Amino acid sequence: MSQNNALDYYGRLGNWSFDEFGIHTESLTSWDLNELINKYADSDSRILDLGTGGGEKLLADYPECRKILGTDFSPEMIDTAKRNLERSGRKNITFKVMDNLQMDVPDEYFDIVAARHTITDPAQIMKCLKPGGHLLIRGVDKYDCWSLKKLFGRGQAYDDAVPVSIRDYEAVLNAGFTEVELVPIHEREYFRDADAFRAFLEKVPILNVCDEDRTLEEDKLREYIAGNTFGGQIRLLRNYYGISAVKRS
Ligand SMILES: C[S@@+](CC[C@H](N)C(=O)[O-])C[C@H]1O[C@@H](n2cnc3c(N)ncnc32)[C@H](O)[C@@H]1O
Repeated sequence: MSQNNALDYYGRLGNWSFDEFGIHTESLTSWDLNELINKYADSDSRILDLGTGGGEKLLADYPECRKILGTDFSPEMIDTAKRNLERSGRKNITFKVMDNLQMDVPDEYFDIVAARHTITDPAQIMKCLKPGGHLLIRGVDKYDCWSLKKLFGRGQAYDDAVPVSIRDYEAVLNAGFTEVELVPIHEREYFRDADAFRAFLEKVPILNVCDEDRTLEEDKLREYIAGNTFGGQIRLLRNYYGISAVKRS
């Protein structure tokens, strides 16, 4: 998806919540973005969350600390995040519109920069981190939902020659970070039923349904569901990646 299409797509959605799909997740690996944020943060920390969406994850999982700034290039997402913040009653959190590729934040200001399932420019992140600060990225990798994408013959990152995890890893190394680790993350997601699974696929860009006026081919969807139903729930295998890195002190 191009960045212009992404802005339209996320603007139309206006939230990044999946509560309605009754998803149950089993982790097969142990790299956990929230655990690392909670490990590195203390009460004096400033945290930047890039591509925060409606702030759902930040508000639910990030620790109480001196300051948390959540940013997103979609004004609709930031409006949702501000409403979610009001409802949450949490303090020391602000949201603002900002493009991750044209960051507008002070230099050497944040202790932690987190980016979950969004685009990043590690060179710009390097500038805004304090020396000794942590960068934590969680991304969706090329082979995410691979059997589903193979069946449909298309999908997010389907034709990428180099997986996005490797491109991000190289970019973090090239930006001059130290202690750079790239870790695969595998999860099994279970959806309440076939209707919830279909509605999920119509919301997310996994099969690129959303940005190209495509519909889900019924025969392929039925075939996938028939082969991946366990105890009435539909299973989807997820393949993410985590990157952790430190700005040299
Ligand atoms: C898949 S959602 C993830 C939201 C949230 N981080 C989460 O994990 O729940 C991706 C988010 O990144 C935002 N995004 C995509 N490209 C961006 C960019 N260039 N600058 C800022 N935000 C961007 C989208 O608007 C969207 O809210």
